[in-house]
Amino acid sequence: MLYISTYMINEYVTTSSIQTKKLGALLAEELSGGEIICLAGDLGAGKTTFTQGLLKGLKIKGPYTSPTFAILKEYKLKAKSQKLKAIFHIDAYRINAKDLLEIGFADFAGKKNSVTIIEWPEKVHKLIPTKALWINFQWLSEQERKITLSSKKER
Ligand SMILES: Nc1ncnc2c1ncn2[C@@H]1O[C@H](COP(=O)(O)OP(=O)(O)OP(=O)(O)O)[C@@H](O)[C@H]1O
Ligand SMILES: [Mg+2]
Repeated sequence: MLYISTYMINEYVTTSSIQTKKLGALLAEELSGGEIICLAGDLGAGKTTFTQGLLKGLKIKGPYTSPTFAILKEYKLKAKSQKLKAIFHIDAYRINAKDLLEIGFADFAGKKNSVTIIEWPEKVHKLIPTKALWINFQWLSEQERKITLSSKKER
C-alpha cells in the first residue's frame, strides 16, 4: 500500500504538462494495488494531465478520454506479470456520493489489484476513506503548477 514513498518528495512545482505527466508516471511505479488517489484542485489545474502520465507509466494505451462525460472510466491491464489489473478513473465534478455508490464505488474502490483515481474528491468526500492519498494541484501561472502529496486532506 502506497502512502508517500520515502524517495518521493511531497511538494513539486512543474513548469509544463510534460513534467506533470512525468510525475504521474513516477507515482505509477509505486502503485501496488488497493490505492485510492484523490486529485484535488481547480479547473485546469492538471488533474487529468497527471492521470494521463500515470496511465502511460503503466503502459496503458491511449486515448485516455476524459471521464468528464462518462463519470467513470475503467482501464484494464492485461499483462500477466502485472499485479495491477485495473485502474478506475472518476471525475466527480458533476456527481454526489449517492451517484458514486450507484456506479459501484463501494465494490471496486480500494480493492487489491486495482487503483482508483478521483478528480473532484471534495464532491464525494463522505465516501473517501482515510487511507486515501491526496494530491493537490494549484495553478501558479500559465505553465506552472504546484503539486502537493499528502496522506490526508489538508484542512
Ligand atoms: N505544469 C502543468 N501541469 C499540468 N498541466 C499544465 C501545465 N502547464 C500547462 N498545463 C495545461 O493546463 C491544462 C490542465 O488541464 P487538465 O485537464 O489536466 O486539468 P484538470 O485539473 O483535470 O481540470 P478539470 O477540473 O477541468 O478536469 C492542460 O491544458 C495542460 O496542457
Ligand atoms: Mg480533469
